[in-house]
Amino acid sequence: MSAAKLRRRAQRDTFGNSFGVLLALAGSAVGLGNLWRFPYLVGQNGGAAFIILYLIFVALLGIPLMLSEFIIGRRSRANARGAFRTLAPGTRWDLTGFIAVLCCTLILSFYSVVGGWGIEYFYKALRFDFTMGLTGDLSTLFSGFTASTWRPLVCHTLFMLATGLIVAYGVKNGIERFSKVMMPLLFIIMIGIAVRSLTLDGAGAGIDYLFRPDWSKVTSHTVLDALGQAFFSLSLGSGMVITYASYVKAEANITKICINTAVADTVFALIAGCAIMPAVFAFAISPGEGPGLVFITLPYIFSQLPLGGVIALLFFLALLLAALTSSISILEVVVAFAIEELKLKRKTAVWLCMSFIWLLGCLCSLSLGRFGSELSLFGRSLFDLFDAISANVLMPLNAMLVVIFLGWKMGRGVIADELTNNGANNPPAWYTKSLYIIIRWLAPAAILAIALFQWLG
Ligand code: PFF
Repeated sequence: MSAAKLRRRAQRDTFGNSFGVLLALAGSAVGLGNLWRFPYLVGQNGGAAFIILYLIFVALLGIPLMLSEFIIGRRSRANARGAFRTLAPGTRWDLTGFIAVLCCTLILSFYSVVGGWGIEYFYKALRFDFTMGLTGDLSTLFSGFTASTWRPLVCHTLFMLATGLIVAYGVKNGIERFSKVMMPLLFIIMIGIAVRSLTLDGAGAGIDYLFRPDWSKVTSHTVLDALGQAFFSLSLGSGMVITYASYVKAEANITKICINTAVADTVFALIAGCAIMPAVFAFAISPGEGPGLVFITLPYIFSQLPLGGVIALLFFLALLLAALTSSISILEVVVAFAIEELKLKRKTAVWLCMSFIWLLGCLCSLSLGRFGSELSLFGRSLFDLFDAISANVLMPLNAMLVVIFLGWKMGRGVIADELTNNGANNPPAWYTKSLYIIIRWLAPAAILAIALFQWLG
């Protein structure tokens, strides 16, 4: 390797320690996917059966995939595209990295719009709009707000600026420091809300709904939704793990970090489920409300509870923090690409990427309102389209390419080297062997089968 290349690598930012890496990764994983997407998908897909499929996907595909991305990122020490260029020079595998960058661009554009809704609702909660005696229709309030032109745009802009500001500070001083403080706070708030919800009269029906499966509700859609949600929630197939892993020191135990991240994310999704569904059932509301669930149903519930105003405030604070620790990771994928591939300074890269994604986000937001018919394709608003394309197409596609790359192009030796930190630690042989089989055979076959099943069905 040339001296210049070595120097450039040495100058790359790194995470401070393994705990910081874990919190940053968990910060990325835990987000609107857990608090906004997971509850409404559970509601639309019939409850426990969806959750069980989701858990199977996390354990069987999610963790091996996260490890695969981790191996590629730490070994190459490069951004999502550079990683493939470094490990397989002269090939077109770098297209996989392009897909990841495109995917993150699309995700952040609609994610930031929802983050903006979080700002609006946090502001409403600060004014104690959701306290007892609330009058007016919350569904009309929500659809009126999201379909209006200016207010959601202002909130989206604020959310994007906050994201850009943290990323501009860099990996250790921005992303790691923010995640270290906010993640524990987030867990504490959500556990408090779940306890309140679980102790409501009539909460039992919600618990049944979450944990007693009704398999007759499962369709091919449910399966793909569960897979898409597992990828979305663990931030897989988006180049995020590759990018973060490229900042991780050589001695970190990657198996431990990946399993802990997946467990933290899953526990958090279940806590969110326990915070939301028991309350939904206690107030006899339909769980299949769709994307409006946390913005319509929950405020209604808060308005019926003693001290509901305070709970609303804490909930929307949690939502905002969770959204921010994820949005910074999505932006970092695009920014790292711009810094290393387009040779830009971090601050310039942040401004450029942020402005472009902000613009796309504005279109997403406007597609939900007055410009709905102009800003729609294939009968879907741009907002819905970006969500569906990223979670159900680009993420699984990218994830499949990642495991094929690692299992077939890199091979067993590279996987073993990284899992053992080049021989420094000694995981049991069955572990490395079965992981290799999952990465080489099972994961690509499963992703392909589910995708075909959905597209042909
Ligand atoms: N995992 C995040 C969530 O559940 O909200 C979303 C996400 C973050 C997707 C980072 C992709 C990504 F690269």
